[in-house]
Amino acid sequence: MQRLTSRLVLRPPTEDDLQPLFAIYGDPATNTFNPAGPLTDIEQARTLLIRWLRHWDGKGYGQWAIALRVKPQRVIGFGGIDARDYLHVERLNLGYRFALEAWGQGYATELSQAALDFAFVELRAPRIYAVVRPAHLASVRVLEKIGMHRDGELDDVPGQAPSLVFSKDS
Ligand SMILES: CC(C)(COP(=O)(O)OP(=O)(O)OC[C@H]1O[C@@H](n2cnc3c(N)ncnc32)[C@H](O)[C@@H]1OP(=O)(O)O)[C@@H](O)C(=O)NCCC(=O)NCCS
Repeated sequence: MQRLTSRLVLRPPTEDDLQPLFAIYGDPATNTFNPAGPLTDIEQARTLLIRWLRHWDGKGYGQWAIALRVKPQRVIGFGGIDARDYLHVERLNLGYRFALEAWGQGYATELSQAALDFAFVELRAPRIYAVVRPAHLASVRVLEKIGMHRDGELDDVPGQAPSLVFSKDS
C-alpha cells in the first residue's frame, strides 16, 4: 500500500527497484559511515532486495521505496521499519538511505516521523530502535529531531567505537 507524507510517497519495493537500489547503495557517498562500504555488484543489491521482499511477504511491512510526490517515478531513497536481531532480541528498527541529490531538505526526518507513526499506530509497537555510527552526526540529528534518545551501545564493528542505539517509546 502506498503512503503519503506532505512531500513524499512511500511504497513497498518491487523487483523494478533493483537499479535505483544499486545506484543508491552502491554510491560511496551514501556509505561514508557504513563500515561494510558500498555495494560493489548488482547481485549484492538483488540479494538485499530479495531479503526486503521476503520481509514484506512475511510481516506485511518493511523498507519503503521513497519518491517525491511531485516526481513519483524517481526513487530518491529507501527506508522505514524492519525487524532486526541484535543484542539478543528481535527489534523493530528504523533505517534510511537517501540519494545524495536528496540530502539536506528534511526528507529523512519526514520519512522517519512517518515510519514512527506507522509503527506505533498500525503495528502497535511499544518501542522503536535505531542504530547509528557515533560519528554520523547528520543521522544522529535526524533521530534526535524525531524524539529518539540514546539507549545503549552495540559493539558491531570490531576494533572501532561501538554504534549508538537510539529508541523511542510509543
Ligand atoms: C543521513 C541522511 C539520512 C540524512 O538525510 P537528510 O534528508 O539530509 O536529513 P534531514 O535533512 O532530515 O536532517 C538532517 C539534519 O542533520 C543536520 N546535519 C547535516 N549534516 C550534519 C553534520 N555534518 N553535523 C551535524 N548535523 C548535520 C542537518 O542540518 C539537519 O538538521 P537540522 O534540520 O536541525 O538543520 C542522509 O544523509 C543519507 O541518506 N545518508 C546516507 C545513508 C546513511 O548514512 N544512512 C543512515 C545510516 S545510520
